[in-house]
Amino acid sequence: VHNVIFQDSKQGSLQVAREIASLIRERADKGQKCVLGLATGSSPIRVYEELVRMHREEGLSFKNVVTFNLDEYHPMDRSNIQSYHYFMHQHLFDHVDIAAENVHIPDGRISLQDVQEYCKKYEGMIEQAGGLDFQLLGIGRTGHIGFNEPGSHYNSATREITLDYVTRIDASSAFKGLENVPRKAITMGIGTIKRAKRIVLLAWGQNKAPVIRETIEGDISSEVPATYLQEHANTTFVLDKEAASLLT
Ligand code: F6R
Repeated sequence: VHNVIFQDSKQGSLQVAREIASLIRERADKGQKCVLGLATGSSPIRVYEELVRMHREEGLSFKNVVTFNLDEYHPMDRSNIQSYHYFMHQHLFDHVDIAAENVHIPDGRISLQDVQEYCKKYEGMIEQAGGLDFQLLGIGRTGHIGFNEPGSHYNSATREITLDYVTRIDASSAFKGLENVPRKAITMGIGTIKRAKRIVLLAWGQNKAPVIRETIEGDISSEVPATYLQEHANTTFVLDKEAASLLT
């Protein structure tokens, strides 16, 4: 695990977008698919913006790209503008040449009764695709990656979880009030994420500085699930100066 600290989030995002683009091209040159694990939220927006620009201006094609998103609120309709389904189409999928059948986002419409089986199927689809070549992550103030909140097992799989209170507070302005934030979500597990061949975690701003310090310098613990990444051989934390400001 190592950290790269950029002057600002824009520079960091450009660097990450370039890495993703070269992986996509490298695979395409060999006639291979490129399997990407993707995140939502504010942190990756500029990465997606740059990938869209490269598609438009530099001929970057997504024809060989297969994607699996980390998480989705549950229950959540696809047409809801708070849904991660909506977010991903708005920021990336509607603007590139990815095949619809190659896009996978946990389905927030699944019934409570079917959710367990659905999660197992999602996990199986990732495996069938050959596993994640690259996983993009943000980090929550609770130390969650995906929606693996404190208490998550290091070997957890895709499952339904209960969102932490702090996570719901952080989402409350987008939902125009805490009472509107779903209490549950479907998320890839820590085990799912850790099997990715390459992991890049983005963190921008002072707000993330305390959890970034704990994640990088703290003991590995289920209390801060992102610390599990310390055991992953090919993880980079991409930070801006503010997010890195409490590192010793
Ligand atoms: C989103 C996800 C979450 C976010 C995290 C940070 O798909 O899995 O872990 O990455 O909550 O969110 P932002 O980037 O909005 O600070």
